Formats: sequence, structure tokens, C-alpha cells
Amino acid sequence: MLIKKRQTRDILPSEITPEAIFRDRRRFLRTSALAATASLLAPGTGVSKPMEALEPLGALPTSPFSTDEPKNTYEEITTYNNFYEFGTGKEDPMRLAPKRLEHRPWNVSITGEAENTGEFAFDDFMRGLSVEERIYRLRCVEAWSMVIPWAGIGLADVVRRANPTSRAKYVKFYTAYDPEVFPAQRARGFSFLASIDWPYTEGLRIDEAMNPLSFLATGLYGKEMPSQNGAPLRLVVPWKYGFKSIKSVVRIHFQETEPECTWNQLAPGEYGFYANVNPTVDHPRWSQARERRIGELFKQDTLMFNGYAEEVAHLYADMDLRKFY
Ligand code: MTE
Repeated sequence: MLIKKRQTRDILPSEITPEAIFRDRRRFLRTSALAATASLLAPGTGVSKPMEALEPLGALPTSPFSTDEPKNTYEEITTYNNFYEFGTGKEDPMRLAPKRLEHRPWNVSITGEAENTGEFAFDDFMRGLSVEERIYRLRCVEAWSMVIPWAGIGLADVVRRANPTSRAKYVKFYTAYDPEVFPAQRARGFSFLASIDWPYTEGLRIDEAMNPLSFLATGLYGKEMPSQNGAPLRLVVPWKYGFKSIKSVVRIHFQETEPECTWNQLAPGEYGFYANVNPTVDHPRWSQARERRIGELFKQDTLMFNGYAEEVAHLYADMDLRKFY
């Protein structure tokens, strides 16, 4: 994600709220987030995963949703990443994440408007769900793209198992919060990373979450998920810009109202809640009409809904996509 240059009209919360109150609020949010995820990551007690320790997942069923476009290489997919918890550089995640992120113990909480809420150890969370391969295009809002062979489970199966109540209209996802693991969560002062209200969060409408394309990935290229790609569990929503595909998920929360999400909160005029890939709606600072596939020389046209219109266009039939970008 390109970092927005601050302009005079951009006001940070720290400038409107007196510094002490702002800091207190952030401390409160951090403390509550930490309490919510306290048992999820216990620094120093778990197992980090260097790249060479990632286990093969065995033979996986393929999916009719997979593209047959040429895949990006394992190296491209694991060395050019956005995972701001480890820094803003594309190489920061591969440098830091495999040493710092512990894949176990890892718990996932299901909370909010659902019948089957609770906190589940990762292996219990996965029990009974069938892992398959899905080769999807990933289109970043920064106008680059890749083709990635994920392994994982359909999000709809997880939602169905949670059994949301009739009030559940949206699903919110939370990345782990642990400043000892994620250096950017320790950022202070007026830096860009300090202006993020950690943990990273994202959200979907419940019908989007139930769409058969929505996926929770646990691996790639037939092996366990590398840390830099969001181990052990990350969302993949292939018709939306990549920032919706939140990494290292520890909480899935059902709620009635549209959730606040990290990028939308930071710059609502640039990153909408929907964030559907749309070549006709430009980012305020660059065109979204074309994209550069990593590893290729020439740009290619960006497709509506990243080429998944047949599967998802009906979700937005009555919506003005210029307004709900
Ligand atoms: N999730 C978290 N927690 N933190 C992040 O910084 N970056 C997002 C998304 N998920 C991000 C995240 C962005 S901007 C993109 S493009 C994709 O992850 C990149 O996924 P990849 O590194 O596996 O290609």
C-alpha cells in the first residue's frame, strides 16, 4: 500500500484530541485488544517457522474456482509482501516474520452475533473442514498483481458452523495484536505506523463472506503458510483489493453494523469499505485501469472484480459502485 503523503487538510486523531487523551484511548484500545487475544500468542512459548521448516500439506483437491493463468513463483510470492506489522518495506516481512511469528500456539475466537462462539485452538478450528487448493489472482490496490496457489478452506463453511444470528449482517476480522512479535505495533510518535490503530482489522458483508470464492488460506504452493504471507490463517477475497485479505487472523466477529476497518479508518476517501477491484474507479492518486503482474514487463488491463464478475457481480446489483467503492 502506498503511504499517503500528509497534506494540510489531513488531520490525525492526535491533532484533534489532546495528546494525553489520544494516547490514553490508544492504550485502552490496545489493552482491551490485548486482553481479547492474551491467550492467543504467548511470546517466547511458541514455535516460529523459518521457511525451511514449513511442512508439505500432502495431496490437495483442486477447485473449479482456480485460474489456469501462469502462477507466480514461490520466491515472488514470499519475498514481495505487504505486512505492515513488520514494516512498510516489501522485504521487511520475509526478513522478520519467519523469525518472529509463532504459528503455535494459535487460537481463533468466534465472537458476537453467532450461536457457536468460543475460542478454539487452531487444530480444533480446522477440524472437520476440508482443505483444498485455490489458484487465485491477487490484485493489490497499488496496481500490482500475482497469481497465487493457496491452500485453505471456504469461509462459508466457517460462517455456517458459527451459526450467525439474524442480526449478523457483517463479519469483522482481527489480526493478532502482540507488540513483541510485530515491531510496528510498538511505533510511537508521528510516524505513519504509529497512526494505525492496531490490530489490523478488516470486514465483509455477510453475503460476501458466504460467497463460495471467500477463502481462509492456511498454506501456499502445497506447504504450510509462510509467516510473511499471514500464517497460520489469512483471509483471501480475490475480487477485492489485496488489503481486504487480512493476515494472521485471531478473531472472527459477527455484528449488525458495518465494521470499522484499518485502511478505511486511515483514509476513507482512498480506501472504501467495499474495495472491489474496479478499473473504472481510480484511486485519487493513481489509475486502477491497468496493473503490473509481478515478474512481467508489460502492464495488463485490470478486470472488473479482478475477473470474478460472474461469481460476485450479483452481490452489488443495486449499488452505485462509484459511491460504494
Ligand atoms: N494483513 C495485515 N495484518 N497487515 C497488512 O499489512 N496487508 C494487506 C493484506 N493483508 C496487510 C494484511 C495488503 S495491502 C495486501 S496487498 C496483502 O495482504 C498482501 O498479501 P501478500 O503479502 O501475501 O501478497
